Amino acid sequence: MIGIKQIKEKKAKQERITMLTAYDYFTAKLMEEAGIETLLVGDSLGNVFKGEGNTLSVTVDEIIYHTKAVRKGAPNTFIIADMPFMSYHLNTTDTKINAARLIIEGGANAVKLEGGSQSRIEMIKSILDCEIPVVAHLGLTPQSIAKIGDFKVQGRQEEEAVKLIEQAKSVEQAGAFMLVLEAVPEKLGKEISETLSIPIIGIGAGRYTDGQVLVINDLIGLSDYQAKFTKIFVDLKKGLLDGIKDYYNEVKQGEFPKKANTYYPIDDTKSKIGV
Ligand code: KIV
Repeated sequence: MIGIKQIKEKKAKQERITMLTAYDYFTAKLMEEAGIETLLVGDSLGNVFKGEGNTLSVTVDEIIYHTKAVRKGAPNTFIIADMPFMSYHLNTTDTKINAARLIIEGGANAVKLEGGSQSRIEMIKSILDCEIPVVAHLGLTPQSIAKIGDFKVQGRQEEEAVKLIEQAKSVEQAGAFMLVLEAVPEKLGKEISETLSIPIIGIGAGRYTDGQVLVINDLIGLSDYQAKFTKIFVDLKKGLLDGIKDYYNEVKQGEFPKKANTYYPIDDTKSKIGV
């Protein structure tokens, strides 16, 4: 498994870093087989797994549950677990406990949290104080939806862009070893990537970041809403729907199961499960 050192070296070598969100055992297994370097157990599971309109209801227990499954599927891949809304906002003690649970119970290698305000900087430092690596997340931060009102591009105005650059520098200074940058103009993505020495992983941040992350459901077309900056690499929606409909029809028509699909044919008393 690669560690923080190798991840950082990739930036120095100008080798692009791949990251995907993962929520379950089997998909994580395929991601490891494909060589994806970093997996993110994102709180986007609130949207794509739980069917909520946002990420706010996701709990630490839920992230642990999914991280465990992802760790089983990808035992040799660097896994980052998202810190859910309100799990790092109250005080440094709760923040440390929650971060530690994601590592100890979930099996993650690092945690990610959103924002770059002064209080977030304090939380990043407190987590690092427990020897837990931290990934920062700036730009569009979905946990701020109630405040920002809409999932829209951030840093378009000069003043906003300057603030984002300052926050990016602050999270690096605080010790974050990587930064996820979401939904910002390409120019700003490029500037932040060139300014910081830690790797910048973009999602809707243009072509010049040090790596890219996608929500797996966007990549496979299993998403209610497909943001402009995503891409369906393989469309599973139609294939899945067709398969489910075929199953429905075959059961209704008595086409499935046939004798060949049954474990215990009535006339065969010696069959064992799976044989
Ligand atoms: O939760 C998540 O999936 C994320 C990505 C969008 C980066 O934070």
